[in-house]
Amino acid sequence: MRVLSGIQPSGKLHIGNFFGAMRQHLQLQAENEAFYFIADYHALTSSPSAEDLRAYTIDVALDYLALGLDPEKTVFWKQSDVPEVTELAWLLSCVTPMGLLQRCTSYKDKVAQGISPNHGLFAYPVLQAADILIFDSNLVPVGADQKQHIEVTRDIAQRFNAIYGELLVLPDEHIIESVAVVPGVDGRKMSKSYDNTIGIFETEKQMKKKVMRIMTDSTPVEDPKNPDTCNVFALLKLVAGEDELAEWKDKYQQGGMGYGSAKKRLLEILVEYFKPYRERRQELAADAGYVEQVLADGAQRAKAVASVTLEKVRKAVGIGR
Ligand code: ADP
Ligand code: TRP
Repeated sequence: MRVLSGIQPSGKLHIGNFFGAMRQHLQLQAENEAFYFIADYHALTSSPSAEDLRAYTIDVALDYLALGLDPEKTVFWKQSDVPEVTELAWLLSCVTPMGLLQRCTSYKDKVAQGISPNHGLFAYPVLQAADILIFDSNLVPVGADQKQHIEVTRDIAQRFNAIYGELLVLPDEHIIESVAVVPGVDGRKMSKSYDNTIGIFETEKQMKKKVMRIMTDSTPVEDPKNPDTCNVFALLKLVAGEDELAEWKDKYQQGGMGYGSAKKRLLEILVEYFKPYRERRQELAADAGYVEQVLADGAQRAKAVASVTLEKVRKAVGIGR
């Protein structure tokens, strides 16, 4: 089974990205042919500075490698190193109805937030469809917020196939449902765009500041508390062992526990959880050429697959030899 996913280098990755997407990507490596890439063309839609885009791209690569992406097995590259996808995106855009894109909620949400949209943001799902279809992907593991983009991809592939013949492979959806939305320190969805994240590779001191800031309600220490509505407990759920979690649940329900003690324990477990990865990341970061080499190898392997699909599509539409 070919599994493909992409992540945008639009900021430092956080534990919501890890538990919501990256952890599953890494698990899927073992039994599948995995293709993972850094979606830098997509990140351009939010107009980063060239300097930030470059730095975040290397950061994302280091994060994935430190967390266990195996570049021998998994094809791992930077989207813009395989520009064939932009040509496919154009060819697909010519079979994509405007209405399909106008209905996309992620676009509508951004406009509703007051962002003045560029054409790239509007056409974003077509480029995502090209990413998926150019590699004949079977499974695309993404968080629930990306579900509609996979449906759009299937829709575009069906339209293309109906006109030009059964050429493109329709991906299955693979929505990551095992993890609910990870809350940020303010209780909203943890997101790079809300300034409410806990970074995977922050120092202990930085993490402490964030964890102590997590929003809780004002139930007095002695009163029973509801674990199911508590942001601290939601994060404990991701990292604490089963037995310990059950103990915390009791403590919440019995009363006599202050949120401060739950935060303190959460911090300890978080630091411990990511410690080996942090060390690995430092080692990798010390070797400046390593990441570049991995991405260059990955790009070569990805290009070999992408160019075959693109050639077939060019021929089918009447512009190839
Ligand atoms: P952000 O909102 O921080 O910009 P992205 O949109 O780049 O994150 O998401 C990258 C991946 O991480 C997606 O598959 C998304 O579903 C997942 N993800 C992001 N934030 C969360 C969260 N708070 N909880 C669970 N999954 C998340
Ligand atoms: N849009 C995805 C996100 O924001 C990133 C992405 C780009 C992607 N191309 C993709 C994900 C192809 C899966 C497949 O998370």
